[in-house]
Amino acid sequence: MELLYVSLLCLFVFLASLFIHFFYKNKFALSGPLPPGKIGWPVFGETLEFLYTGCKGHPEKFIFDRIAKYSSNVFKTHLLGEQTAVFCGASGNKFLFTNENKLVQVWWPNSVKKVFPSTTQTSTSKEAEAIKLRKMLPNFLKPEALQRYVGIMDHMAQCHFASDWENHDQVFVFPLTKHYTFRIACRLFLSIQDPNYVAKFSEHFDVLASGVISIPLNLPGTPFNRAIKASNFIRKELMKLIKQRKIDLGEGKASPTQDILSYFLLMCDENGKLMNELDIADKILGLLIGGHDTITSACTSIVKYLAELPHIYEGVYQEQMEIAKSKGPSELLNWEDIKKMKYSWNVACEVLRLAPPLQGAFREAISDFIFNGFSIPKGWKIYWSTTSTHKNPEFFPEPEKFDPSRFEGSGPIPYTFVPFGGGPRMCPGLEYARLEILVFMHHIVKRFKWKKIIPHEKIIVNPILIPAKGLPVWLYSHEPDG
Ligand code: HEM
Repeated sequence: MELLYVSLLCLFVFLASLFIHFFYKNKFALSGPLPPGKIGWPVFGETLEFLYTGCKGHPEKFIFDRIAKYSSNVFKTHLLGEQTAVFCGASGNKFLFTNENKLVQVWWPNSVKKVFPSTTQTSTSKEAEAIKLRKMLPNFLKPEALQRYVGIMDHMAQCHFASDWENHDQVFVFPLTKHYTFRIACRLFLSIQDPNYVAKFSEHFDVLASGVISIPLNLPGTPFNRAIKASNFIRKELMKLIKQRKIDLGEGKASPTQDILSYFLLMCDENGKLMNELDIADKILGLLIGGHDTITSACTSIVKYLAELPHIYEGVYQEQMEIAKSKGPSELLNWEDIKKMKYSWNVACEVLRLAPPLQGAFREAISDFIFNGFSIPKGWKIYWSTTSTHKNPEFFPEPEKFDPSRFEGSGPIPYTFVPFGGGPRMCPGLEYARLEILVFMHHIVKRFKWKKIIPHEKIIVNPILIPAKGLPVWLYSHEPDG
């Protein structure tokens, strides 16, 4: 009897080993090992370190420490409650940007989904809404449409510098610039011009922006909780504006082409249906956030670098004064003038390389796949980061050196300069941002020189890149002879 038991046990062990052998052989033959890296603490993973390095002004440290330790192309970690693979370098960017909706799709952290609930209820509707928005935006943001806004932006920039900068010896660049970009967004997206309304609205956007990428702890007083409240407030205000605009359009008091709000209200989908009001509110909310915080960050960093690098300031000044001198006394800038601002744009690009407003973005694996010999399981989140190429000497020799000539000729190699992302999800606001940044550069150098009051002010990520103290500067007007 005992012999029978031993034989059965041996048979069982033999069959079990065979099963395990074949199961794992097949599994790994198909998939390969997971990327190297560590998962960090339970629940939090490495989120705190990820956010901390950003708050301390070294967002690239999180990436480069792990590239050095694990692998230059991909490592695993755990961010914002999710198993995450971080893709690095030009090959990582290329893989993600060319496999959109094939192997990966856009993914937003849970904190973002809770702050913007309506359009992100399910993965499919989230995707469908984003695609819808992308189809609609080109009509509003394509270069031909943007040409109409050059004069408006120029006029608004003149008013902004006259009221907020002139007659001041010192200013805080970041809050003033935020004012400028938010006013323009309110004017062009919603036709709102009342400064008091814009100021009130803007406060809620600040609260929203600081809580949107945070630990999703919905308790009274947390940044996340305050962001949800701010989002609800803004959406209610937008709903009021939408209802009023519908009435005004019906009564002929508003024009169908006056701004993005009219445009969204009158646009039908492929089934001939108008978009619902909440969707419009959410889309405009997203555009107001994307359309002003990023440009504020870029313009503020431009002011910082021009203060630190007098020879670069001089080049921008010469280019802009040549354009200014070619204009009549009250003649506004036009599209042809913008096209002439080549050196200024190269300078802006070098700023966007060294100080990208957004550090990166997330994707989700929609099926199992292999990248660089490592297995990425379906459902894992993937993060790509601007700094993994922008600050990499392989793609940008002497990466800390400010050198706008990197953008002359054919410029950086593909998939290395990615402040606006790439592929089908590339930022649709690029041309709008370029226009607004160049108009800003034109006016600021035409009027002033400036000096930083805090020589080594820290730059932090919150969640966009900003100066920790708002970049205070001393302002100096040009001598009368220019
Ligand atoms: C300097 C200014 C800006 C920078 C650096 C910037 C950067 C980015 C980046 C990195 C992405 C993510 C791409 C990805 O997921 O791979 C993005 C997406 C987006 N941006 Fe911008 N952006 C800027 C200005 C704007 C402006 C002015 C608008 C609107 C007027 C805008 C609207 C959007 C929208 C709607 C998306 C989502 C696109 C999608 O998911 O398909 N952005 N932007």
